Amino acid sequence: MKKENKTKFSNVYEDTKRAAAYSKLKFDKTYYLAYRDLPKIISQYSSGKNALDFGCGTGRSTRFLQTLGYKTMGIDISEEMITIARKLDPAGDYQRIDDGDFSRFSSSSFDLILSAFTFDNIPTMDKKIRLFNGLSTLLTQNGTIINLVSSPEIYTHEWASFTTKDFPENAKAKTGDIVRIITTDIADTRPCYDIFWSEEDYTTVYSKANLRIIKKYKPLATGNEPYQWINEIRIAPWTIYVLKKKT
Ligand SMILES: C[S@@+](CC[C@H](N)C(=O)[O-])C[C@H]1O[C@@H](n2cnc3c(N)ncnc32)[C@H](O)[C@@H]1O
Repeated sequence: MKKENKTKFSNVYEDTKRAAAYSKLKFDKTYYLAYRDLPKIISQYSSGKNALDFGCGTGRSTRFLQTLGYKTMGIDISEEMITIARKLDPAGDYQRIDDGDFSRFSSSSFDLILSAFTFDNIPTMDKKIRLFNGLSTLLTQNGTIINLVSSPEIYTHEWASFTTKDFPENAKAKTGDIVRIITTDIADTRPCYDIFWSEEDYTTVYSKANLRIIKKYKPLATGNEPYQWINEIRIAPWTIYVLKKKT
């Protein structure tokens, strides 16, 4: 792994305007490919009905798990995102946590932990390992973590829901570097600052957190969907890792 860029990184989702814009996102266009295969993947690799949505944002991914029959708690470090999640789903369970503080949860209490796009915003190897270690203690012995992240390629191509053409420097990014991307589906067109992370370095993170990769998915569009795809038929914008504890 290359040396990580030490530029200070802050979570763009701790922002009222961004949170309001993000809350309007649904499951269509490029995001459709992030969520399309999850029901099948989850039913194949997970049993039990208690789920934690790590980095729940405004609750889109939490409500998604609820529709699959999971009793789901959503947690996030952003007060702005959690406030909207609660408004959109008053009966739901959304909690703001301090970064990496899982102390309010009992160990082995979740059968499934979903992290949808959260690790795109976690800056360093140490921090990623620490968070996966913490999440792992909350997981039942045979529980499953699903880590859905942006694929490295998302930052250097154009997509139905995203543009990166104004950021040619993304092409030189190495693990730990900040990359920029704009979501064209929402009213807030300010770039998002994410952390680039190679698949090889995700493998290192999992291994150091005593997790094993059960399966890795790179969902592609078929061309039969009702969207104007740009690269989604030939390049996967997302990577989905299915993880379990090392035995
Ligand atoms: C791109 S949003 C995804 C929201 C949601 N999972 C979805 O699919 O709509 C990423 C979320 O991760 C949260 N996040 C970033 N770092 C975090 C951390 N260390 N612990 C918990 N949440 C974090 C951000 O505040 C943000 O709400």
